[in-house]
Amino acid sequence: MPKIIGTTGKGGVGKTTITALMIKYLRENSDGPVLAVDADPDANLATVLGVEVETSLGKLREDTLKAMKDFPAGMDKRSYVEAGLHEVIVETNKIDFLTMGRSEGPGCYCYINSMMRKFSDDIQNSYAWVIMDNEAGLEHLSRRTASRVDHLITVINNTPLSIDCARRVEELLKGISNEVKNKHYIINGVADERIDIIKERCASLDMTFLGHVPMDERLEEAIFNGVSLFDIEDTPAVLQVNEIMKKIEEI
Ligand SMILES: Nc1ncnc2c1ncn2[C@@H]1O[C@H](COP(=O)(O)OP(=O)(O)OP(=O)(O)O)[C@@H](O)[C@H]1O
Ligand SMILES: [Mg+2]
Repeated sequence: MPKIIGTTGKGGVGKTTITALMIKYLRENSDGPVLAVDADPDANLATVLGVEVETSLGKLREDTLKAMKDFPAGMDKRSYVEAGLHEVIVETNKIDFLTMGRSEGPGCYCYINSMMRKFSDDIQNSYAWVIMDNEAGLEHLSRRTASRVDHLITVINNTPLSIDCARRVEELLKGISNEVKNKHYIINGVADERIDIIKERCASLDMTFLGHVPMDERLEEAIFNGVSLFDIEDTPAVLQVNEIMKKIEEI
């Protein structure tokens, strides 16, 4: 069974950046294969890692619905969808990428969705790690992106609104059936003298503190210049995410 990690939190707090650095750590340190899932419809996880992705599950869903209308009687829908699903996975050195894309438009997708869900569940089992980057907000928690999450990490930054968001994550988790084994938070890009204040504000959360990822100019510059985060050196943020991943590996 893979270990499944997902990030969540307010818009712009650093979810994608931290998820990408976690994937970088696993590429360099994990023994088993890794599935990176971009569950943000405004997908950019692969981009910050310099990986080209051409299609998504969402696009496959739309294409299949269109194609099914013209299917000759007796043609096997299942093999059509399965062939497409394998195309959606982009394989790179040790990391495979799956981009979820947009959710469905109008039309009946029940059949396609149930096949895709089964595929996602089945395929996850062939990996040691599944790392999911989620969109801002909480909708992904109630939608079923993964049936089980081992580590749900809420990213918190300078703005108190990011802690409010963590509280709402907690509330929402009470009302859903998805199994979330461990809840954590990470503080991102906050000045040292504020860390303790923020930790105090987070004390009532039922989440463990995993670490602080510092504001990192070299990292910011690499993202600005479109350098793949796979290729950056050990900047302070990279080193901190490595420490966080070592903690997660121990749990
Ligand atoms: N620790 C850091 N050091 C330097 N820059 C950072 C750091 N964390 C985030 N950034 C900068 O903030 C930008 C926004 O971060 P990111 O895209 O990871 O946020 P997000 O939470 O995924 O946003 P969204 O909610 O839109 O998906 C990044 O492009 C990067 O430039
Ligand atoms: Mg993001």
